Amino acid sequence: MRHVTSIADLSDDEIVDVLNAAESLRPHFVARGGRTEVLRGFLDKRPLEPFIAATLFYEPSTRTRLSFETAMLRAGGRTLTVADRESSSAAKGETLADAMRIVSSYADVCILRHPADGAARLAASVSSIPVINAGDGSHEHPTQTLCDLYTLWATGFRRGAGKVDKEHFRGKHVAIWGDLRNGRTVHSLMYALLRFGACVSTRSSPDLDLPHELRTRLSLEYGVERIPVRSTDPSSLTADALYVEGKGDHDPAPRPPVAAYDAMYVTRLQKERLQGASSDVDYGTVTPETLKQPPFANSVVLHPLPRVSELSYDLDALEQAKYFQQAAYGVPVRLALLVSVLTEWLKGGETTRIYGGRAALRGAISDTTVACQNTRCISQLEPRSTPPRFDVLELPTTGRLVGRCFYCDTDVRHGVASNGRFSFDTDAAKAIG
Ligand code: NCD
Repeated sequence: MRHVTSIADLSDDEIVDVLNAAESLRPHFVARGGRTEVLRGFLDKRPLEPFIAATLFYEPSTRTRLSFETAMLRAGGRTLTVADRESSSAAKGETLADAMRIVSSYADVCILRHPADGAARLAASVSSIPVINAGDGSHEHPTQTLCDLYTLWATGFRRGAGKVDKEHFRGKHVAIWGDLRNGRTVHSLMYALLRFGACVSTRSSPDLDLPHELRTRLSLEYGVERIPVRSTDPSSLTADALYVEGKGDHDPAPRPPVAAYDAMYVTRLQKERLQGASSDVDYGTVTPETLKQPPFANSVVLHPLPRVSELSYDLDALEQAKYFQQAAYGVPVRLALLVSVLTEWLKGGETTRIYGGRAALRGAISDTTVACQNTRCISQLEPRSTPPRFDVLELPTTGRLVGRCFYCDTDVRHGVASNGRFSFDTDAAKAIG
């Protein structure tokens, strides 16, 4: 079955196909006087007419849920909605695994948002219908990334009038700002941009940098180099690290910041995920003055929204501000994805996890007496219905084996590899709890 639980479930070609399908759908959605009208054409064929989508949202949402539901309705399909965890049996203590078994006996596709890392993969593993991840904890948000890539392409990266091509992303400079630790949109987007050969500069508040594990993975599995950025002007809003394609096997010398960014991607502080840490972070605000600085003079500005204080309202009138367009593109992009997922489901297509394209799946750890070390993993939060499950991967170049949580992608810290097999160092793992 075809599920989209992570951006790693889609190959580069599959991503490009969805973006091209979105591009051919987009002319059917025309904004007139503040509202969207739908033109005749493709949508009259009602490509999703036989299907029912369940949107199962255990966290707040405006854009993601409504754009999925609009896509279904515009294309002739229907929707069932749980817009709020408290209005579902989850409030009575029902596990996600049970809820998913029920939903898959009613609907044809489930679009899931959940606060636990790895929830989408758990749902997919018990589901008899395709599952699309609409954001699981601070893990991933792959369909937001499809919207982000499409917006970057349509508003700046495209070359000429032709189709989307992954080469259009190669060498483009994107500055990503904000809560990189907890922001799931950023995680999926980093993987995709770097797979497409873009260069990404990051800037975060202290303690909110990309998780160490994600950085290690980019280096060992995606062949990405992280280069420290030496800022010459501490008052300017420049980056602190640059990620580019490379060998990823050494620590390069610091470089000055990039002279000109093609895009700036801003995110809000994920207050609901700070877990006791101070939410009193000096977060900064992007203003029209920021865009007057030479590196940003020609950057388009994206934001997955909602914004809190990090984007000034004064930006909205500027041509460079693309975040409302980005939200509007959610409909053609998600419609394209739904058509692809549901058509493949009828044909019996299978999901192949890409794992960065370079690490190879070698099997699974059979000893499941040790829990995932990520306390926000669904297997920790709902342990009775979600037994620990770990894949074994072989890393490129070194051939080293690693164990990885099947649900949330957290690597096993206490493992032993010998004779081509990987198992837990159970004593060490238990000692750290
Ligand atoms: C994002 C999310 O839910 O992760 N919102 C969205 O889907 N557009 C970003 C956020 O909430 O900050």
